[in-house]
Amino acid sequence: SNVGRLHRTAYHFQPKRHWINDPNGPMYYNGVYHLFYQYNPKGAVWGNIVWAHSVSTDLINWTPLDPAIFPSKQFDKYGCWSGSATVRPGNKPVILYTGIVDQNNTQVQNYAVPANLSDPYLREWVKPDNNPLIVPQAGENKTAFRDPTTAWLGRDGHWRILLGGKRKHRGVAFLYRSRDFLKWTKAKHPLHTTAGTGNWECPDFYPVLKQGSYGLDTSVLGPNVKHVLKVSLDVTRYEYYTLGYYDTDKDRYIPDDTSRDGWNGLRYDYGNFYASKSFFDHSKNRRILWGWANESDSAYDDVTKGWAGIQLIPRVITLDPNGKQLLQWPIPELESLRGENVHLSGQVLKKGDVVEVTGITPAQADVEVTFSFAASSLDLAEPFDPTWKALDAQDVCGRRGSTVEGGGLGPFGLLTLASENLEEYTPVFFRVFKAGYQHVVLMCSDARSSSLMDGLYTPSFAGFVDVDLTDKKLSLRSLIDHSVVESFGARGKTCISSRVYPTLAVSDKAHLYVFNNGTEAVKIETLDAWSMNRPRMN
Ligand code: FRU
Repeated sequence: SNVGRLHRTAYHFQPKRHWINDPNGPMYYNGVYHLFYQYNPKGAVWGNIVWAHSVSTDLINWTPLDPAIFPSKQFDKYGCWSGSATVRPGNKPVILYTGIVDQNNTQVQNYAVPANLSDPYLREWVKPDNNPLIVPQAGENKTAFRDPTTAWLGRDGHWRILLGGKRKHRGVAFLYRSRDFLKWTKAKHPLHTTAGTGNWECPDFYPVLKQGSYGLDTSVLGPNVKHVLKVSLDVTRYEYYTLGYYDTDKDRYIPDDTSRDGWNGLRYDYGNFYASKSFFDHSKNRRILWGWANESDSAYDDVTKGWAGIQLIPRVITLDPNGKQLLQWPIPELESLRGENVHLSGQVLKKGDVVEVTGITPAQADVEVTFSFAASSLDLAEPFDPTWKALDAQDVCGRRGSTVEGGGLGPFGLLTLASENLEEYTPVFFRVFKAGYQHVVLMCSDARSSSLMDGLYTPSFAGFVDVDLTDKKLSLRSLIDHSVVESFGARGKTCISSRVYPTLAVSDKAHLYVFNNGTEAVKIETLDAWSMNRPRMN
């Protein structure tokens, strides 16, 4: 349909048509990046799940291949669900994935290997007859037993993987060990569990360097690393992660006490981002994160559009120098798509000012802006209402949106995908609050005003930003792509992705503005916006 065409993304990962969900088995192998993903070859709703397959040399331009893994055996007859790739020593890739064996969704873990290692694209994958490798034991939850991680090697020479699952309402990361990658034994204790979080989907477990910005192979251990455990909560549809210590003697993970270990913990993204998976790119010594964003329109709209789901832009993950959270930043390769540029600097925005950014394509853009403000403005920040302590950031944004008065410092930020007269806009902005001698920074990506259309999911997504304001600056980057606004606050401390479906603010009718609705002035220190070119996308 026409509207479907207008909301289709230009530079986010999508196949030509149909439904997609989780990124699967990302890896770099012999000069080629592989991305597999959950895909319905028959329609724009979830079902008939196979592993679709695309390859790239830059993570930006993608070539589609035939599905790599699809139901064909007893052990995956009813679906080939999520899983991971491991490149074993000797440069041998293997995929572990979840097979669905009956109509009750009973789950087992299988492996597949390339049919021909000299095919540069690894087009064909073989599922040997000694599958399945892992089946649920008696007393285990057969339908919450899935999504194997990339394997890592212990000092004892044994491989380890996690499976996600639950016991009653406790989320569990089951640990399995193997010497030969074929015979897997369940460890007596899970790597980690958390009460009250429900089923854990798509766990991810990997090391990050304590000091320095390069990424690490999944098997790296030692005193210079911390570990990250991420899980996807199928009850809330959010992911959360903790940083922690991996006790390799006990084979147990102990989260640090710097963030909550539970559904209200740290998130990669405070918006639409799910079932993510990271991989180590040894060609550039970095760890890259892929995450899926589903649609926020109705299933009926998806069928009309003929497609549903995108992968967000791959992000480089590093540990924040404060050791308390991760930083995420779009891969630098994305910048190869930047076209026309506009640059602003030194402009002061007083209360109520709205400045249009012209000279680029606002519906398909990359925008980076740094705001600065006076020290005295920090003193005049709105007091943080103590009753909000019980709320999460999204609810605070719901009450303190981009037009709500009473903000001293903020709200200020961008109005993305805006119609000329602001009937539609998705504001991405900061509000700074004073809480005693400290400040609380709220970042919002508020879809409530994004569209005049009915029947959309339009949450006021938000997260707090744990940022030091001593330099009196706040930066924001937004990747705008027709129905996507993917934003990075304070150089990747807080990330929020929204899916929005404007009716007026489409293609060349979309506008981009910078605004300030706080009583304190803010200055555009620098702003750069680029039109984004279209890559080869499947
Ligand atoms: C997460 C998930 C996984 C499962 C897959 C099925 O979105 O539910 O747990 O393997 O999707 O498509």
